[in-house]
Amino acid sequence: MKRVGVFLWLVILALPTGVLAQDRNVILGVNPGVMESGILTYILPRFSLKTGITVSTIIVDNQEVTLKGADVSLGTTKGAQGAVVMEGNGEGNRRKYFVSQQTTNGAATRFVDWVLSDIGQRAIEAFKGKDCTGFRGLAGTETRVEVPVFDGDVTRGEGLSLRYCGRCHVIGAANRMKGLGSTPSFPLLRTFPDWQRRFEAFFTLRPHPSFSQIEGVTEPFDPALPSPIFPLRITLEQLDDILAYVAKIPPADLGAPLQTQ
Ligand code: HEC
Repeated sequence: MKRVGVFLWLVILALPTGVLAQDRNVILGVNPGVMESGILTYILPRFSLKTGITVSTIIVDNQEVTLKGADVSLGTTKGAQGAVVMEGNGEGNRRKYFVSQQTTNGAATRFVDWVLSDIGQRAIEAFKGKDCTGFRGLAGTETRVEVPVFDGDVTRGEGLSLRYCGRCHVIGAANRMKGLGSTPSFPLLRTFPDWQRRFEAFFTLRPHPSFSQIEGVTEPFDPALPSPIFPLRITLEQLDDILAYVAKIPPADLGAPLQTQ
């Protein structure tokens, strides 16, 4: 009896004031694999203890989630609003799992936020199932690739790119016939999956360091090694504008891969 009492106190203390009754329970629809792995018995009590929200689970096919009334689904089908949450790390299971909110229940929102939070992700990774297999947290990895946020000014970025980079790089139609032949064009650079990293650090990548100065970031040129050409001087803010513009450039169409027979 005593232990139950303490547990209830914890739950009551954790409850935010004024929550609605329906916001204290969430119905989680999972696929059979998630249920069998045992991970739910590990993570759900942690979520409930933290939030005072109880979770009931039902096994569903991804197609019937809404039919069976689940507030949230957790399975291997992404769906329209699914967010990647984890990946199997066992020999037999390397699949990705997605969490998707199906109803407007406030408790469902809190559950989705929790599994995607650092705390939820740590709980997922701490779980060890049969043969020590479990899951690796993947929250945020896909959205980061899909929607990078650039808060620079696109129009200013276009002007800056033309003025400062267009001496060597073809930026787009505006200087198609200019640029140096051996220098990769921006639409070509845009095809690299890590284009963002390269542009953010362009002043550290050859050949730029010898002639580029970013205000407050780079060291002044060594007097013994003055810039061989008219120096390129911009601020980090201007680089943000350039990034915002480059983000909008459609990657060059390099054509279909060569077919070899
Ligand atoms: C004086 C000529 C010149 C100017 C000006 C110049 N670049 Fe470059 N840039 C180059 C050359 C040449 C390369 C190819 C280097 C290579 O392939 O090793 C390059 C490569 C790059 C790369 C790819 C680097 C890598 O290693 O992946 C990026 C990104 C880049 N430039 C961005 C810029 C930006 C942004 C500006 C303007 C703010 C700019 N460059 C201005 C000559 C220039």
